[in-house]
Amino acid sequence: MCGIFGYLGKKDNAMEVVVKGLQKLEYRGYDSWGVTSDLDGELFVEKKVGKVSEVKLEDFRDKKTSIAMGHTRWATHGGVTDANAHPHFDTERKIAVVHNGIIENFQELKEELGKENFVSDTDTEVIAHLIAKYRKDNPFKEAVLKAVKKLKGRFAIVVLNVGENYLIAARRGSPLIVGIGDGEYFLASDIPAFLEYTQDVNYLDDNEMVVVDGGVEFLNLETGEPIKKRLVNIDWQAESAEKGEYDHFMLKEIMEQKETILRAINQDEDDIMHVAQKIRDSRGCFLSGCGTAGKMCMAGEYFFSMIAHRHVNYAPSSEFKIYHHFLRPESLLVVISQSGETADVLEAMNVARSKGAKVLSLVNVEGSTIARQSDFSLHIKAGPEKAVASTKASTSQMALLLLIATAMIGELQEGRRILVDVASKINDILNPRFLTYIKSVAEKIKDHENAYIIGKAENYPMALEAAIKIQEVSYVHAQGFAAGELKHGPIALVTEGTPCISLVANDEVRQDVINNTIELKARGAYIIGISPENDDVFDEWIKVPDVGVASPLVNIIPIQLLAYYIAVLRGLDPDMPRNLAKSVTVK
Ligand code: F6R
Repeated sequence: MCGIFGYLGKKDNAMEVVVKGLQKLEYRGYDSWGVTSDLDGELFVEKKVGKVSEVKLEDFRDKKTSIAMGHTRWATHGGVTDANAHPHFDTERKIAVVHNGIIENFQELKEELGKENFVSDTDTEVIAHLIAKYRKDNPFKEAVLKAVKKLKGRFAIVVLNVGENYLIAARRGSPLIVGIGDGEYFLASDIPAFLEYTQDVNYLDDNEMVVVDGGVEFLNLETGEPIKKRLVNIDWQAESAEKGEYDHFMLKEIMEQKETILRAINQDEDDIMHVAQKIRDSRGCFLSGCGTAGKMCMAGEYFFSMIAHRHVNYAPSSEFKIYHHFLRPESLLVVISQSGETADVLEAMNVARSKGAKVLSLVNVEGSTIARQSDFSLHIKAGPEKAVASTKASTSQMALLLLIATAMIGELQEGRRILVDVASKINDILNPRFLTYIKSVAEKIKDHENAYIIGKAENYPMALEAAIKIQEVSYVHAQGFAAGELKHGPIALVTEGTPCISLVANDEVRQDVINNTIELKARGAYIIGISPENDDVFDEWIKVPDVGVASPLVNIIPIQLLAYYIAVLRGLDPDMPRNLAKSVTVK
């Protein structure tokens, strides 16, 4: 949610480097962008509504400077206007601030600082004014330290003061990573922004600040005391964060599922056994995540029940607080998150920890806040996921959950065998013929405003996930239901030609789902069956391999493609759906 990027170093085209970095962070917010620099003692600013991906890099090439910072926005406070785009400044336009997060006490601070001096409706502008206030009697670093102490809420900020050749960044609650290059430094909301320059990073933790000049100095925000940080090497390749031959990241990431399942299950056996043991030993185990990750937790609930005969409770992280009565030191919370930065998940972790419960996590971004704040974390190894709609991360999360479930009953090798088979079958189906067929189905349903998806047992969470995928990228009103629930109300929504997708596995509930599909068909629904076997009730049959209990992993893939093609055929950009951002770091 909002991308920030700062550069200081040996390159003399810092503004171009920053704009390029922002283009890689655009998935975090894309309603407006801005960049600023100290050009020979003068503040240069360009900020406007629109997409940073449409900015020409060469427009910034001749602006010779080695220090710059910028922002790509996902509006929270204040509408989408040029004035509200970041950076924001103090009255004298000497101090510039870019910010990701929400300052909860901004109104109070604005009153205090004289609201007539403000030129935007954002919460961020108070930070620049506050720093300027303290800068009058303090060096720059102390002024920033004093200012952030007054802030309530969540923030990652980068600050530049004209005439002082350094950048200061601080964090509480929103991600900020420091890339350490050869004689150059990067401050960014996410690693892909600077991956082409360096793979060495320091993660800024909550209540930490970094001063970047000829080197980096880390400080505690509360005490101002220096702190030592560990340099981490990231094993992502720069190309893995690029679109390559694909028109969109979403399609590229769907296709990467040919390899990502195998990477996900390539885990140290001791680590998997450790997690399996912790779940078995716990007295009250909860699975929690948000959105798609939450639906994968739900799939995990089924895997643990069907494979390990162990009951765990799924709760969306935004609802987890309600469960605090049931938490004790023997309880266990397992959280799932692609980004590792989702605010609701972090809050759920705090609730669990406040009751003495342990927290395990499955994350895609190594070193992310959720990974670092967990008692133990498994890395799902899906590689950078840039499209807003989560695809490859979700199947990797399910693969790992299934593996853990088998480890819980001493069948880890069997779990691996099942998943290696799934990986190879996914590799087979993701072929041009399959894609062309799914596109033809998308063509048939793209103009409908409603679509319903049904599934039962382990495919019920997939029906819910299917709805999220279709809603978020194609803006079609899609809803997922447990197949047996239709007759209790939702079937009233079905009219002649309504597209209904039926997820049917070769399992013990197959006939039930077919029966529910027949009920839909009787009301005129146009049935798209996703199943290893055809059935008379299907108007379209999307054939998927039979992989037994792992069926959700293959059933969700045609849905991802369907959502993608519906969006493209409706003339939408699936990588940048309206109103959404990749990493939701606000509550
Ligand atoms: C939907 C989607 C979101 C995320 C959710 C959690 O396609 O991507 O629903 O799953 O915002 O994000 P993470 O997994 O980063 O915690």
